Amino acid sequence: MRSLVGRDLIWLGDFEPHEIRWLVELGLLMKKRYYSGERIIPVLRGRSVALIFEKPSTRTRVSMELAVYQLGGYPVVLRSDEMQLARGEPVKDTARVLSRYVDAIAARVKRHETLEELARHADVPVINMLSDFSHPLQALADVMTMVERFGGVAGLPVAYVGDCGNNVAHSLILAVAALGGFMRLACPREYRPSTRVLKRAEEFASITGARIEVFEEPEEAVKGAKVVYTDVWVSMGQEAEAEERRRKLARYQVNERLMRLAAKDAVFMHCLPARRGEEVTEGVIEGPWSIVWDQAENRLHAQKAVLAALIAGRA
Ligand code: CP
Ligand code: NVA
Repeated sequence: MRSLVGRDLIWLGDFEPHEIRWLVELGLLMKKRYYSGERIIPVLRGRSVALIFEKPSTRTRVSMELAVYQLGGYPVVLRSDEMQLARGEPVKDTARVLSRYVDAIAARVKRHETLEELARHADVPVINMLSDFSHPLQALADVMTMVERFGGVAGLPVAYVGDCGNNVAHSLILAVAALGGFMRLACPREYRPSTRVLKRAEEFASITGARIEVFEEPEEAVKGAKVVYTDVWVSMGQEAEAEERRRKLARYQVNERLMRLAAKDAVFMHCLPARRGEEVTEGVIEGPWSIVWDQAENRLHAQKAVLAALIAGRA
């Protein structure tokens, strides 16, 4: 396997299926060691990571800061509106300056192109903490949670219902395809996944035996599924389209009726934050199907795997 040391994680398409699988296994190992009492695994001792936020965050903000800390490193958390970026300093200058101080740059950005530009000009690994196109750290934690629950993802029917063209759906498609799962998406025509993602997922599928199908009817995707996943209808930055999106996605709500079409032992997943009464009902997210808190917890351990793999061992 080509070493992951020094590489960027801008979207999961940057990696090969066996590399994604390895990161998931390392995440599971990180969690096991944490629970056996090894709270600090100091592979990043003396290292630092800049965490830049252009958008709000609860889970990613806290779990990334703690992930760096639990690996013995130092996280520098930055709000972009408090940086010179906000006064017009170019992204490429920011990338080169930060590279002289820190061992990696992680960023949550409004436009995916900002991450690509950071990566082009930084001398250290750049990690995507969410863009309008992808949310790879979320998907690594998600498939890790599926492995914990079902023992593996190969052949696992995973339904995703709602906005299939958003960051979370894009990353989930690639992560499930990398592990050989059966991805069944349901969305209105205008909210289908990007062709770039579908094309890369098909490349993964030709290696792993995964399947990717896109339906219009939520019932078709969910029938017999072991995992039913959804995300908000209006992502950060899409506020101007809120009304139209709520109207077009209304029949894609994950409710008790839909969950009853899934497998008997099906689980409900959501990256959070959730809008109860929109994409999911209170009864589903608070009901016996829901494993959303395990998902949130696994962000921490999956991210330790990514940080250790990309940074530890760098000269
Ligand atoms: N799921 C997720 O990324 O949550 P935050 O926006 O709170 O970081
Ligand atoms: N799709 C959502 C995910 C939030 C974690 C958004 O971008 O707002």
